Amino acid sequence: MDRFISHKVKNLAPSGIRQFFDLVLKTKDVVSLGVGEPDFAAPWRIREKAIYSLEQGYTSYTSNKGLLRLRLEIAHFLKKHYRLIYDPGEEILVTTGVSEGLDLAIRTILNPQERVILVYPCYVAYPAVVELSAGRVVPLYTSFEESFKINPEKLKELIKRYKPKAIILNYPTNPTGVSYSKEELKELWRVLSKEDLLVISDEIYDLITYNFKHTPFSTFKGAKGKTIYLGGFSKNYAMTGFRIGFACGRRELIEQMSKIHSFVMLCAPIISQLSAIEALNSQKDVESMVKEYRRRRDFIVGELNNLGFKTLLPQGTFYCFSSIKNTGLSSLEFASLLLKKVKVAVVPGEAFGLLYRDFIRVSFASPFPDLKEAILRIRKFKEQYLKN
Ligand SMILES: Cc1ncc(COP(=O)(O)O)c(C=O)c1O
Repeated sequence: MDRFISHKVKNLAPSGIRQFFDLVLKTKDVVSLGVGEPDFAAPWRIREKAIYSLEQGYTSYTSNKGLLRLRLEIAHFLKKHYRLIYDPGEEILVTTGVSEGLDLAIRTILNPQERVILVYPCYVAYPAVVELSAGRVVPLYTSFEESFKINPEKLKELIKRYKPKAIILNYPTNPTGVSYSKEELKELWRVLSKEDLLVISDEIYDLITYNFKHTPFSTFKGAKGKTIYLGGFSKNYAMTGFRIGFACGRRELIEQMSKIHSFVMLCAPIISQLSAIEALNSQKDVESMVKEYRRRRDFIVGELNNLGFKTLLPQGTFYCFSSIKNTGLSSLEFASLLLKKVKVAVVPGEAFGLLYRDFIRVSFASPFPDLKEAILRIRKFKEQYLKN
């Protein structure tokens, strides 16, 4: 059978998260701080819209780019929230999640061997989509000491040296929870604006920020024309299973991305598109989910630091990235032992880049009692099984 599998796919490393979670699934009574999705169900008004749409018989394809009504709503939302203007007719494409938008963007722009800068630690899909397009990854490593933020000087140097075609930005960031102030982003744009490369900006967590107003990268003067903006519903509205997102960018790029989309996906599911229109109608439930995430964040980050696992306070997302350096274990060893001994699941940092063996990603998209129980267990683990 082996000979039927392409070299590209065979050589693709499986997701570190999936591998580890196969193990988690086999263990009973686990408290999981590993999942990358909200523990909330989608708000009732969105589910109700989905049910009602089905009842009304909305079971067909839509236009390839997505229902015009949804694209109009997305354009309206971006204008109202961020003063970002995109033409719903030609500059917005509805995708089956940011995952598809990302894949379309990379496939549209990349020729074999062309390079893309990825900012590490990064979401597990980024290196995979670049490799599947036969592109080459140029890693830009960030460190705990730099608050896991891009150093503009390093960025300048990498661009000069490798002449990449694009960079993928992601903020608020999975797995670190880091985000950037408007000033910091402006500094990055100052570097990028002078260079001949495209920015793919994955801003899927834009509404999950803490006392921090998100600034889309496209809002900087001149940036819109050089940016593919990826937005989604999975995290903001707890709609992961609906598989819906969108990509915005120059007409020429969206046209080419739509071409691939029309062959491989045809369109995003109509029920999800109608539900997404409802999602954009109100931000009240997003605000209450974010309020709860913030309460959990303050608790879990405080407790992890108390236990000696240095953790920066996330400015967005529902993840924190904790240092386990003083345990002397690699992140995979640590996570496996934690699972085996006290049945708590976290994601090994090395899933997000091999240099991050000293970190674990802890998700606080779990109910508060679970977080409390997890901390009790981690304390016990530290006292009974760790040297320091
Ligand atoms: C940074 C980032 N981008 C994209 C995705 C995938 O999003 P979607 O469900 O919209 O495909 C995730 C999911 O974890 C993510 O963390």
